[in-house]
Amino acid sequence: MTTIGQSTKSEAERIPIAEMSGVYKIFKQKKIEVMALRGIDLKIYPGELIVIMGPSGSGKTTLLNCLCGIERPNAGSVKIKGMEITKLRDEGIQKLLQEEIGIVFQSFNLIQSLTAGGNVELPMVVLGKLSKSERRTRVGELLKKVGLENRQHHRPSTLSGGEKQRLSIAMAFANDPSIVIADEPTANVDSVSAENIMRVFQEFMASNPNKALLIVTHDPALRKIADYTLVIRDGQFVRRIEKTTSLSSESEYENALMGTSNVTDLSKSRSSPLISNIIQKANFPYFNDISLCPNCHSTNIVKKLDFQNSFCQILENKLLQRAALFCRECNELSFITVISGDLDKLKIKREMIK
Ligand SMILES: Nc1ncnc2c1ncn2[C@@H]1O[C@H](COP(=O)(O)OP(=O)(O)OP(=O)(O)O)[C@@H](O)[C@H]1O
Ligand SMILES: [Mg+2]
Repeated sequence: MTTIGQSTKSEAERIPIAEMSGVYKIFKQKKIEVMALRGIDLKIYPGELIVIMGPSGSGKTTLLNCLCGIERPNAGSVKIKGMEITKLRDEGIQKLLQEEIGIVFQSFNLIQSLTAGGNVELPMVVLGKLSKSERRTRVGELLKKVGLENRQHHRPSTLSGGEKQRLSIAMAFANDPSIVIADEPTANVDSVSAENIMRVFQEFMASNPNKALLIVTHDPALRKIADYTLVIRDGQFVRRIEKTTSLSSESEYENALMGTSNVTDLSKSRSSPLISNIIQKANFPYFNDISLCPNCHSTNIVKKLDFQNSFCQILENKLLQRAALFCRECNELSFITVISGDLDKLKIKREMIK
């Protein structure tokens, strides 16, 4: 089977800028273990703009943190330009972050005591490769690229959410990295700012054909600028949606979610007839209670609970199942988790499901 995160371009032709194979990440808090990533395979080649979409808690930030060395995976390999980074010491990771990877953090990570220009200059000062006048020239260019040339002397606290977001993007590009990774870059901004941010990313790719950009997001609009989109759920890639796949209508959204010929589907291989039979018998009282779109609160929604293909998991004797909800008012697709009644009442043995 094709690996979902595999590039469309021939592997022999080019070396990936970033590569993850079989990456697992488990967080332990007291006695509870959370498996945030479950066998991630991903190859990002020069010139690619890839979007990863998934619901809250699906492992997007963890994936980015493992890719850039901020988190160490429990298993698997992560390579940047062919170099294995999972075994690097802290100094090696710091060098990597200074030279090869630009990060647009979910929380901006701006230094409040520095001006906008000072924030963009800081990564260059730390790297120490440019003279002061070269740095100042580059700061001016970067601020212009993100439309903040008139805000150079402003402190972050005086900037709007969209301006802070664009400033953090300029910082990520400061040291001319091979790959920029962005965590929810349009999450906290209005639609006009989101359009501006998408334009900045597109211009970056157009003027840097050998670099790569990886964006994780909840925002389906970002899919428009991606070469392809990977859908992550519960720490695994479950779909790969090609750029050519138009998802403009409700039925196309449903098909992309539930699996069609032009969308790769992993989850089919996981479900056996026995398991799907048991899942179908479980009733999902909370699923029937859901009557509003979580985005715009409209009641004009279509719900889909897919017994065959979607993720399921047992927690405290209840079955958790991922379902989808399409809103005809705002055209948004949402993923929801629905919970069954007690499995014991179905008179089935839990071992059968494991
Ligand atoms: N440091 C941590 N300790 C314990 N659990 C963690 C930690 N970081 C993440 N997790 C858990 O790992 C899972 C994945 O988290 P992650 O932050 O990667 O999700 P996400 O897809 O980025 O979500 P969001 O869209 O809300 O930002 C979640 O269940 C989260 O609670
Ligand atoms: Mg996150």
